[in-house]
Amino acid sequence: MWKTAGVWASLLAASVALAQTGAPDKRPLTFSHDVAPILYKHCVACHHPGDIAPMSLMTYQDARPWAAAIRQAVVSRKMPPWLADPAVGQWSNDPRLSDAEIQTIRSWVEGPKLEGDPKDMPPAPAFPDGWKIGKPDLVLSIPVHTLEGKGPDEYTYVDVPTNFAEDRWIVAAELRPGNRKIVHHAHVFIKGGNAERKSDPTPVTQYAKWIRIRQGSLEWVRPEAPVIDNGCSVDDNGLFPGSTSSDLNSLISSYLPGREPDVYPAGTARKIPAGAVLSFQIHYSRTTGKTETDDTGVGLIFAKEPPSRVSRRIDLSNQMFMIPAGDSDHAVSECHTFDKDVLVTSLTPHMHLRGKSMQIVADLPDGRKQTLVSVPDYQFNWQFTYREKDPVFLPKGTRIEVLARFDNSVNKAGNPNPGINVRWGSASENEMMDGWIEYLDVAPTEPIKVAAANLR
Ligand code: HEC
Repeated sequence: MWKTAGVWASLLAASVALAQTGAPDKRPLTFSHDVAPILYKHCVACHHPGDIAPMSLMTYQDARPWAAAIRQAVVSRKMPPWLADPAVGQWSNDPRLSDAEIQTIRSWVEGPKLEGDPKDMPPAPAFPDGWKIGKPDLVLSIPVHTLEGKGPDEYTYVDVPTNFAEDRWIVAAELRPGNRKIVHHAHVFIKGGNAERKSDPTPVTQYAKWIRIRQGSLEWVRPEAPVIDNGCSVDDNGLFPGSTSSDLNSLISSYLPGREPDVYPAGTARKIPAGAVLSFQIHYSRTTGKTETDDTGVGLIFAKEPPSRVSRRIDLSNQMFMIPAGDSDHAVSECHTFDKDVLVTSLTPHMHLRGKSMQIVADLPDGRKQTLVSVPDYQFNWQFTYREKDPVFLPKGTRIEVLARFDNSVNKAGNPNPGINVRWGSASENEMMDGWIEYLDVAPTEPIKVAAANLR
């Protein structure tokens, strides 16, 4: 009896093992059953009719003609676009495909590309044309802007007053294009307000004023201004003289290909100071060849109660650099030391068309260095905010190094003019070197380990 039972038991074990590891699954891969779920999860947010990608991938009929290009795009990891080095950091908004998903697409494309049973299709994602953050408490829009059908791309800079009589706290902000056909990307910054430093006539502020040339809403650095490429010889070295890194003049939301709205972690909020102005920067492309109008605006949701934590942002910028004409690998840096414990929640490298790579490194007080984010192949058209999966604790005294490289050679795709020395300026043909860091203060009494669930 024992013996028989043993035989049955081992036979059973063998057949289970066979089912798990043995005969390969002979069911052929189909679009409906195997490919569509991957496209719905990773691709169609951009690849559906009317969105930023050139073609829809919603159905077999849509995707079939693109099969070879899809294979190429996923195998090379060109799609979905994402620029952070996967070896550094972990991101809550990382859209990349797993190796198994890439293999599925590859096998389907290399096989007979069967459609399969349409009943196997996953439910199609809906793309309601509403606000992703829910109904905003307030929408502030630019006055209607008219764009002629012909000519090069246009950058428009518009200040919209908030008329806030007191400081307001926001928990979410969504920048939404008025006309998706022509708005390529847009940013909205907080400018001024009561908290803005009053200008005083000291020599250093006069000097800082001399350095910048303003024309309308555009601003750039005077070509003959002194050059500081190494913003790390002392902290905040690359800023305009007399400035300090502050969270006053900073971005609250962007509309960029693939970027989600800004929703602050539960219990936290960002401040818009009384009297502040919202400063919009909008890049228009004349894609339709017809005269078009746009009234891009930002939707804000106010905090219901004072936040238990303030979501802060510090913009570490070098504004004094100069990238020589033709230089294909020019280094520019900026450093800043935190004078308090912080929890970093997101990082955004920002450069313009000549940006080549950026690393943001934390130089910890105990001597260790931790790279927070690395973008080895920066592309102006894909500016992502890398949101930490778990907020990263940095103790007081941590020095942040923003390390950028620029390519001002003829080989840099999209370089508007390799023949000139390039300095800081607000237009895309000028350059910027910024590391934008969102963080929360860690109260001294609070345990350092904060549950991630409370923060996202
Ligand atoms: C964040 C938005 C976005 C996501 C997500 C995205 N795409 Fe794209 N895709 C674009 C845009 C915009 C273009 C056209 C410009 C370009 O090629 O960069 C494009 C171009 C393509 C092309 C054209 C060929 C090529 O290589 O230029 C293919 C194929 C493609 N995407 C496939 C995919 C697949 C497959 C996925 C998902 C695995 C995906 N895309 C995810 C925005 C996106």
